Amino acid sequence: MQILEYHSLKKFNTFGIDISAKYFAEFSSIADIQEILSNPNHLKSKKLILGGGSNLLFTKNFDGLVLKNNLKGIELVKEDTDFYYVKSAAGEVWHEFVLHCIKKNYAGLENLSLIPGNVGASPMQNIGAYGVEIKDLFYELEAFSIADKTIRKFNKSECKFGYRESIFKHELKNKFIITSVTFKLLKKPLFNTSYGAIETELGAMGIKEKTIKTISQAVCNIRNSKLPNPAEIGNAGSFFKNPEVVKGKYEFLKIKYPEMVGYNLENGNVKLAAGWLIEKAGWKGKNFGDAGVHKFQALVLVNYGNAKGNEIFDLSQKILDSVKEKFGVELEREVNII
Ligand code: FAD
Ligand code: EPU
Repeated sequence: MQILEYHSLKKFNTFGIDISAKYFAEFSSIADIQEILSNPNHLKSKKLILGGGSNLLFTKNFDGLVLKNNLKGIELVKEDTDFYYVKSAAGEVWHEFVLHCIKKNYAGLENLSLIPGNVGASPMQNIGAYGVEIKDLFYELEAFSIADKTIRKFNKSECKFGYRESIFKHELKNKFIITSVTFKLLKKPLFNTSYGAIETELGAMGIKEKTIKTISQAVCNIRNSKLPNPAEIGNAGSFFKNPEVVKGKYEFLKIKYPEMVGYNLENGNVKLAAGWLIEKAGWKGKNFGDAGVHKFQALVLVNYGNAKGNEIFDLSQKILDSVKEKFGVELEREVNII
């Protein structure tokens, strides 16, 4: 297996930040991982498991070992009356996996079409879009323990999924390499078009009868119209999470800002639209050199060319401070800062 030194990561992160990794290796099997980690220097060095690089902001050169996941393979492992259990290796591209499931008529993932990145990163932040999160379809995952050099299974409750959260972002951060994820997919589709935009788009497409394929296409159309394509403008999707506030705070803010966007949560709190807060704080479309806030979606920070990671980070800090000052609301970064 080849281990490259001082390898550029510019094309391995969707922000297009030009930094390098001290060591870089791609693994295509568990044996590859074991081989790399059999070198005591690599075992003890700082590590970063890399998928599609679509939820990362590199702020400096990476002084350690980057392990690029290239594990491939999709398999129907079992089925029962109502479900298909479909296991995907972690290095499969997420959207290709979704398209594979749609083709086979395995239902449930269609609302999550076109999310960039790999299957292996999907549990990291419990990816979500258009009313669905992977926790809704998740069955189990397998992960390689860096300390024990063994594979361990995690069921849904062990993953501690939340909104853009899992145990792998906290207690188990950098301790496991997710090697496969198994989803429990429906034999009989349950169309989730609670996001009004999906119904509107299906109407615009002239669709009379919903299928998982047409819903996927509608979601792709909406996403293409709303979010910048990283192949054209560097970005990592939403830079911040949508913040949750207590109902009283929402009602207080609503008096001053009647048009403020908020969604009621089951726990009684209200989720605010961070994009709205950032836009109202005056940041939408602003840029500082090549680091900017997207002109159509204020939640997305962008690299117009040669921005440095810390320029984008500094911009995110200014946004955090200004939203806090204007609304008294604390934003939290969604993107992993490296
Ligand atoms: P990477 O960026 O490579 O890694 C992300 C984190 O996971 C890092 O900490 C990395 O170390 C860790 N990691 C990656 N793979 C493994 C592994 N196998 N084992 C252990 N750790 C691992 N996200 C959403 O939830 N919903 C959206 O709608 C959405 N839209 C997006 C739109 C755009 C245009 C972009 C650019 C991003 C969007 N994202 C969205 C964010 C991103 O697509 C997801 O977070 C995705 O799951 C990241 O996958 P990745 O393979 O690129 O992960
Ligand atoms: N809005 C504004 N101004 C903006 C952007 C948004 O006022 O500049 C308002 C919109 O008008 C709308 C509300 O904010 O009323 C929500 O906007 P949108 O529907 O575009 O969704 P979002 O909250 O910005 C979230 C996720 C996305 C996911 C979409 C669709 C988070 C942090 N982001 O975005 O996920 O694709 O909903 O479900 O939860 C990601 O995580 O990277 C990501 C792109």
